[in-house]
Parts: sequence; C-alpha cells; structure tokens
Amino acid sequence: MSKYITTPIYYVNGEAHIGHAYTTFIADSVARYERLKGEKTFFLTGTDEHGQKIEESAQKNGKPTQEFADEISASFKNLWDDFGISYDKFIRTTDEEHKIGVQKAFETMYAKGDIYKDFYEGHYCVSCETFFPETQLVDGEFCPDCGRTTNIVKEESYFFRLSNYQDKLLAYYEEHPDFVLPRSRINEVKNFVAGGLRDLSVTRTSFTWGVKMPKSMNDDKHVMYVWLDALLNYITALGYGKDEKNMDFWPASTQFVGKDILRFHAIYWPAFLMSLDLPLPKHIGAHGWWTRDGEKMSKSKGNVVAPKEVADLYGVENLRYFMLREVPFGQDGDFSQKAFIDRINSELSNDLGNLLNRIIGMSGKYSDFIIDSEDVQIYHSKELSNMNGVLDSLDKFMENMQTHRYLEELWKLFSIANKAIEEHAPWVKMKEGKTEEALATVALVANILARASIMLHPIMPNTTNTIADALSFIIDNASYKKFIVEKQLLSSFTIKKVPPLFPRIEEPLMQEAPKVEPCKPKEELKEIDKEDDNLIEIGQFFETSLKVGTVMEAEEVPKSKKLLKLQVDLGEEKPRQVIAGIKEFYSAEELVNTQICVVANLKPAKLMGMMSEGMLLAAKDEDGLCLVRPEKPKKSGTPIG
Ligand code: MSP
Repeated sequence: MSKYITTPIYYVNGEAHIGHAYTTFIADSVARYERLKGEKTFFLTGTDEHGQKIEESAQKNGKPTQEFADEISASFKNLWDDFGISYDKFIRTTDEEHKIGVQKAFETMYAKGDIYKDFYEGHYCVSCETFFPETQLVDGEFCPDCGRTTNIVKEESYFFRLSNYQDKLLAYYEEHPDFVLPRSRINEVKNFVAGGLRDLSVTRTSFTWGVKMPKSMNDDKHVMYVWLDALLNYITALGYGKDEKNMDFWPASTQFVGKDILRFHAIYWPAFLMSLDLPLPKHIGAHGWWTRDGEKMSKSKGNVVAPKEVADLYGVENLRYFMLREVPFGQDGDFSQKAFIDRINSELSNDLGNLLNRIIGMSGKYSDFIIDSEDVQIYHSKELSNMNGVLDSLDKFMENMQTHRYLEELWKLFSIANKAIEEHAPWVKMKEGKTEEALATVALVANILARASIMLHPIMPNTTNTIADALSFIIDNASYKKFIVEKQLLSSFTIKKVPPLFPRIEEPLMQEAPKVEPCKPKEELKEIDKEDDNLIEIGQFFETSLKVGTVMEAEEVPKSKKLLKLQVDLGEEKPRQVIAGIKEFYSAEELVNTQICVVANLKPAKLMGMMSEGMLLAAKDEDGLCLVRPEKPKKSGTPIG
C-alpha cells in the first residue's frame, strides 16, 4: 500500500516560523521513514494563497496580490529547499490545476444536491464596509476594527449541507478510533459535531481574491470560500479533476495539522470527501503549539523564532532533532535555547558523536582502521540481542508519530554500546593480548552505529549519511532490509576518519528573546524612593485588579440624583452589579454597550441598599467627569496594567 503524507498549506501573509517548521519536519521525517522501509510515498506541502486576509496583507504591503503571494510562497519553498525537505510536490492554491480541481469538486457536490444557494447572514460594519465572522467580533457584536456596532446583513451565498453529515461523521469517528491522533483529541471534535452542525457558507461575494465559480454555475459574482479551496489541495495535488494521475495515492495515510486547525480537518474535510464519494484519510495527526521560553510567540513581542536563524547558527538537523525529541506528539512544546543546546551537547555530541570518534580512534590504533564483524557474535551475543530488541520496538512509535519516544528508544542503542566498551575495555584486552575480543567490541559498536544511523536517517538525513559513509555503506531501502530486517552484520571494511559531527556548543549563539519588563528594576526604584516617599512599589499597584468591562444594562436608581445601576460584563459567569455616581454626566441609555474600566477586587459595598461589586474609573475636573475607557474595544475581563 502506498503512503501519502501532507502538511497544512501555509498562508502567504508572513514568513515561516518555528511552528511551520515543526509540522514540516515531522511530516518530512515520516515520509523519509516510509521511503526507507520501501513504501511508495508521496509527500505534499505548499501554500494557501486566497482569501480576504491575503488580499489585505498584500494591500498593506503595497503590492498586487498575486505578486505578494508569489514572493511569500517562494520564501516558503526556498526555505524548505534550503532545509532539504523531501516534498514530492509543492502546491500553490493559485496554480491553475488546483483551481480546475476545486471547480470540479464544487460541481460534483452541487450535482449531488449537497450545495444550494441561499442567503448568508453575517455581521457587517457599515463604516468599514466589511463582513466579520462571529469569531472576530468583540463581545459578539462590535467591529474589531473601528469598535462600532455591527449589523446583521444578508449576502447571497452557496451553502454546503454540512448538517446532512452530522450522523455520518459521528458514526465514522466511532468506527475509526485512530482517525484523529493522538486519540485524546477526538473528544473535542465529537462534542462539536454532536452539538449540531450548521450548513457551511462556501462562497463569498464581498471580495474577489479566490477561485472563481465553475462556468457551468453561470454565477461569477461568487468566489470560493478559502477553506473549501484550501482543503481540496490535498486531492488536487494528486490530479483530482484533471489528469488524476496520482489519485491512487488517495486516501492519505497521515495529514499533519496544528491543533488550531483540527476542526477544519476532522469535520469539514471528511464531510467534503464523503460528498465527493472519496475515502477519508487514515489519520489526522494534530500536533501542539510551540512557545518560546514559555511565552506565546508574536510579532509584537518580537519573540518569534525564525527557523532559518536557528538553522544557520546551529544546523538544521540539530533543530529537527531537538523539535522531534523534545515534545510528545500532540502536546505543546517550548523552544528555549538552553534546552536546545543541552540536547545537542549531551545527546548528539556526547552519546552519538563521541561513540563514532572512539571507534575510529580504537580501530586506528588496534587494526589500522579495519573493522571486521566475524567475532562479534562470539563475544557479544547478549548485546546483539539487546540491540535487536530495541530495533524491533521502534516501528510502532514512528507509525504513531511518537517521534520523541522513537528517539528515546533509539538512544538505548548508544547505552548498549557504551556499556559494552566499559565492560570489555578493549584497551585492557589489547594489553592482555586478547586482540580478537578487543576488535570484536569495536566491531559491535560499529554495527550498533550503522543501525542507529539507518533508523536516525529520517530525522537527520545528512548527518547519518556521513556516519554511514564512514562505515562504508549507503543508507537506503536495501541497507534497511539487510541490517534492520535481516539483521546481518557489517562485512569487513576500513573505517573513514570524519571531523567531529557535533562540536560542543559552549555558549548560546542566538540572541535571547527580548524580555518584556513588567516594571523598573528594584534598584532604580529605591533610588527614586529616597526622593519621594509617596511612591509605591510596582507590586502595590498590581494588588489592584483593573479590568475592561462592558456595560450590558444601565438604569437610574430611583430617588437618587447621582446614582446609576449598571450590569457590567467582566468576562465572568454573570455580570457584576456596579452602582456608580455618574448620573449627572451620563444617561443610562448612552452607557449601554460601551466599555469602561473597573476596579474588580474591591470588597462589595452597599449603596442605597443595593450591592455594588466594583468601581468605575473616571476623571473629574472643573469641566465635569468623564469615564476612562479602552482606546479600542477589548474582550470583557481583559486585565489592565
Ligand atoms: N492555511 C491554513 C491551513 C490550510 S490547510 C488546508 C493555516 N495556515 S497557517 O500558516 O496559519 O498555519 C499552518 C500551520 O502552522 C498550522 O498547522 C498551525 O497549527 C501551525 N502553527 C502556526 N503557529 C504555530 C505554533 N506557534 N506552533 C506550532 N504550530 C503552529 O492555518
């Protein structure tokens, strides 16, 4: 059976970061592993180039959209080429073949009765003349750009009957417990589907940067919704809707995605495939999120790890090793330079690099660099059987994408080798005239290294080729069969000297992420303290919990000249009641749906017999009072500080 492995296609609105590199590394490693085992394999990656987001990014950069997409798409492709990523095809959603395939899929779904025309009700900001999806609205109704209230407006749209697939999807998840890996992730998908699926709007008329409707629909004011267009890349890349030449690779064996886009891949995508009468992928592998030094990466914080920078400084294969060893598949991972350097020095340099150097040194001294396995079985049958035990256990880890367990297990080979060297001390045996035994130990280690380099090859292709070259063999399916499956020993060969593969890293080579300083250093504060006793420590300020609140309801307090009674949403389970003395300056009506700043950790107090559970921030001078408000809409409950 053939193997088809995919990465998500990357948006062309920014440069690649380490999260993109991770998905690509893991997919590349699995593809290389399958090829090593002799499987017919197709590995796909590419770029996602349509939609309003890309159109806007291009505009911001002052470039025609296609030119902008061309540039960023090329930057992804160049990076993967630089990194030696072994993709079989790099697809772009602006490729003509892809567009033809998407149109064909649309026609097929339409002919089947799964697509119908209706009206899309969306949130429209008149001032910005833009529709916003519900997820982007502030507090479910405010425009994320200008803060004005959005209106619900109707736009003509084609809909995919997603609701028809609810039961079929649920049944499929039940029958295929490994459809989503790790298995723990399927619950969120099931819950979402079980909660009810609404039909999906799959075309837009509010922008034009997308795949056009098929001619047969005779309706060119619509373009395809970007996720319909994007998901279909996985089959158009195989020729769907055109020459179909590679369609026998379908269904995919593993489709790698980040956890944030699992829903699209585990719900919409299978429903589209069911509609097209195509089989579903075997596995959707959902990986976790990468942070840097424990913090979410973002352009504004300036802490995004650029994979190119790390690779240029430390070597791309070291980065691959680190990322695939560091995190259990599916869980979030953290990139810290210290953890990275520690792994290079201890696991790659000490455990692997030194071992190779040691046998080059020993064989040079004892046997003129000639290594012969003829006595290995006699002196080291125990080690050989331990070695084979480790090798036999590896496959299941890679098949389940558990690269960290795979590597952890693989490293046991080096313990076996090092232990054999310590126990058999070839230098002592040589002194005692037991040359055969000494040389058998050296040959055992060479055999272990040969096998380790084959199995490590999918993760560190070039480094392991260098090791194999030193050991006079080539890593390919033939050597995999010979040494891993049939467990043959290396025949006599002359070992080559190689420069150290993993020079120790003594100090960090990359600039650390800028630290977000929460306050001035203590020393500085003390200096100021001497001058002004009224100053407080920063910690004292943070004892006050200030939050953004949204006024949900407001009414006058009867018989009070000053007080208004407000219900304020602070992002908690229910709104807080705040009694505020602002009636002379604000009417109840004008406050509703506006945002304010609230002291959220005041002890509740009673005012005119009513509980007040917070205090508003306001500024008052001789001209009157005004409320302190966030400059832009923020989610209710956003902390201020
Ligand atoms: N274009 C869509 C995918 C369409 S697939 C039919 C998309 N693109 S993306 O460029 O935003 O993200 C691509 C992948 O990178 C996603 O799988 C996402 O999870 C992953 N990552 C983005 N940031 C990440 C981290 N910080 N850490 C790990 N992966 C993250 O979504």
